[in-house]
Order: sequence, then structure tokens, then C-alpha cells
Amino acid sequence: MRALARGDAGSRWEARLIRSAHPVVARVVDAAVSRRGVVRLPGVGVLVADPAVARLVLTDADRFAKNGPGSSGALWTPVLGERVLLNMEGHDHRVLRRSLTDLFSPRVVREVCDATAGPLVEDAAARLRRGESLDVVRLAREVSAAVIGEVVGLDREAPPSVLLEASDAIESMVTWRTRSFDDSAVARARASLAVVQDAAESAHAAGEPDTVMGRLARRGASLAEARSLAAALFLTGTGTVSSALPRIAAQLADAGLLVPAGAASCRVDDVVTEGLRMTTPSPATLRRCIAPTDLGGVALATDERVVVLLWWATRRDGGFEPGRPATGDLRHLWFGAGSHFCLGAPLALAELHVMTAMLLEVAAEQGLVVTSRRAARRVLVPRYAELTVRAPRGRSPSRAAPRTGRAA
Ligand code: HEM
Repeated sequence: MRALARGDAGSRWEARLIRSAHPVVARVVDAAVSRRGVVRLPGVGVLVADPAVARLVLTDADRFAKNGPGSSGALWTPVLGERVLLNMEGHDHRVLRRSLTDLFSPRVVREVCDATAGPLVEDAAARLRRGESLDVVRLAREVSAAVIGEVVGLDREAPPSVLLEASDAIESMVTWRTRSFDDSAVARARASLAVVQDAAESAHAAGEPDTVMGRLARRGASLAEARSLAAALFLTGTGTVSSALPRIAAQLADAGLLVPAGAASCRVDDVVTEGLRMTTPSPATLRRCIAPTDLGGVALATDERVVVLLWWATRRDGGFEPGRPATGDLRHLWFGAGSHFCLGAPLALAELHVMTAMLLEVAAEQGLVVTSRRAARRVLVPRYAELTVRAPRGRSPSRAAPRTGRAA
């Protein structure tokens, strides 16, 4: 039903990324969910690959929780503290979410992106227009690091490698099997996060109204809360965006949409929305069953682990088709659903919009081809290790431009 290998090139590459990131688990999971959308896999948990059931699990806080024993929230508590959204439920979670409602308002998102992503993206466009190659993976990593650096208050002069190394170090500590960190792992994770948390501490102390951490301070968030939240934003917001862009670029190339006429026919927001559906950078998320229940015909006991397979749940026939609506249960499912719906979605969309718009604009002028790509092996967030594009040889630039528009 939702098998990894699909017919078109874009879908096959997506499947390859998932298998390369999780060689064993991906095959086992794929085999299990190819027969049924909800199935118990001994030693792993109850797998949910059906979009309606996935949405139900994510939105039913009375039966499924993200905190407590064995949950992904619990994994992070010793590293990040008790109050970082992703390990909270109920009243406390609602209150903290409410206090952060406009953390990524349209104005903040625009200012953060203009200050950080803007110059990097302009530089990348100039290189492509000069006929040079561009590693889209590198661009996406630098942009996502610069954006999160700005959010947590890191000095703008700090090289992106500071955050990228920290992000890679933490990601390498987590696999599908990680249920808890021992003391030395907690110490290593904290050491990696120090660069983010120290920056957040300074920004919190300065209390400037035009910084995210400064605004948190003015709203009464304590220093400890700001440090924890900065680390959580960094963990959730770096790897996801940097995984998404190269995969979206690959989808465009595989669908023949990086030739001038194809690129000019694309609406940027449609590409980003369909690109996120196709790539679903957070491939799975976990819940703990907190009351005996039935899920798609499978009986669950209290404390059973539910693995919501977001990447599998967002597959559909037909491959990458920008402009084809993803409505009903599929709507924004790549950002989750319910009370834990991605807090950083507006920021992620803006980052992806600016980078995708640049690729489409350059492609509309002169076309772009993928000259090399390589799937990353054994990583938590499936992604390309490298994806290089450049203008086709002998192509002279023209001036068609893709249609813009913000719909997502
Ligand atoms: C394409 C990029 C992104 C994707 C696909 C994505 C996906 C998700 C998903 C699926 C969840 C829900 C997990 C669950 O219910 O268990 C989530 C939660 C979250 N995301 Fe994102 N995310 C992205 C970018 C970002 C960015 C840029 C930030 C911050 C700057 C961010 C911050 C968060 C936070 C703080 C949560 C936890 C919210 C809560 O528990 O209340 N995300 N994200």
C-alpha cells in the first residue's frame, strides 16, 4: 500500500534517502506498513502510516502523549530541562505555547530572513548566474544555521560551522533505537548546546525588543527558560530545513521543472508545499498511549509506543505535482497536527520560500541541471550529503521569471 519504491524518479530518490539514512529500519517498516496502515511491530511499537489515523493520534491528547516514560520528550528532558514544549503536555504546554504565539510573527520572520538568508541566497544566485556550481546542501545548511543563529542571538560574525558542528554532533547521538541518554551522553549533548545557550543567555540579558530572546525576556521568561527554549528551537529548526531544500530542488529537477519554461510555470508556494509533502523532513514522531484504545483495528495497552510515520503517511500516487492540493488529513501533516504542531512552521516556510524562489528564478533565466548528488548514510533526518546544480553548458540567460505568491 505505501511501499518505499515508487515509479517516478523523484519518488525513487526519496525512497533511497530514507533507506540510506535508516538502512534496516526503513526496510522493516516499509514491509510492515505496505500491508496495513496500522500495524504492531514487536520491539518497535505500533506503526501508523495511514494519514487519517496519524492525524487522529496527533490530535487526541486524551489518549496519546508526547511526554512520560519512553517518549521522545523524555529523551530530551535531562538535556534541555522540563519546559521545552516537546516534552510537555496539557495545561502547562498550552500556557507556554500561548505565550509564544507571535514568536514567529510575519514581521519577525521577514526581519530574521532578510538579515540572514537574504545575503547568502543572493550570493548563491550570483554564482549560478556566473555559470558556477552550487551545492544546494551547503546553501541550505548555511541558511538554516544563520537563521537559527539570529533567533537565538548568536553573533552574526560567527561562522555557520559553529552551529552546524553542534547540530551534527547532537544528531549523531540519536538513532531510531535511542530511548534514553546515559550521563556521559547528556554531558556531551549539553556541551554541544553550550554555544546556542550562551548566545541566548546574552540576548536574554540584553533584553532588546528586536531580538527573539530579548522579547522572551520582556515577556517574563526566565533565563533558564530562554536557554532551554533556544536549545529546543535549534534542535528542531536546523536539520529539518537543511534537509528539505535540496530534496525540493531534486524533486524539481526530477520532474523536469528546472528547465526555463518549467521553472517559469511554477508558483513558489505550490512548490514549497508539495515539496514538503514529498520530503516530509521529520520522517516519524513518537507518542505514548496513555489509555487503552483501539487504533485502526489494533488494540493498544497503556504505555505502548506509537510511531507516527509521517513520511509514509504523506505518500500518494502521482509523485511531485506542485499545485495539486494536499487537503483533508494530509493538510500540513509534514508539520504535525494538534497541540504540538510545528512552532517554527512560519519561519521554515519563509526560509524555504526564499531559497526555492531563487532557484526557480535562476532556472527560469538559464535552466539548471543537477550535476551530482549523494544520499547521506545513517543519519537521523534523511537528506542528501551533496546535491550540486549549475546552468547547462552553452545556455544563454533569458529573462522569464517564476510566478511568486504566498499561499501556504
Ligand atoms: C521544514 C522544516 C520543519 C519541519 C518539517 C518540522 C516538522 C515538525 C513536526 C512534524 C513537529 C511536530 C512533532 C510532533 O508532533 O511530535 C514539529 C514541532 C516543532 N517544531 Fe518544527 N519543523 C520544521 C522546522 C522548524 C523550525 C525552523 C523551528 C524553529 C525555529 C521548529 C520548531 C519546532 C518546535 C519548537 C516544535 C515543538 C512544538 C511543540 O511541541 O509544541 N521547527 N516540527
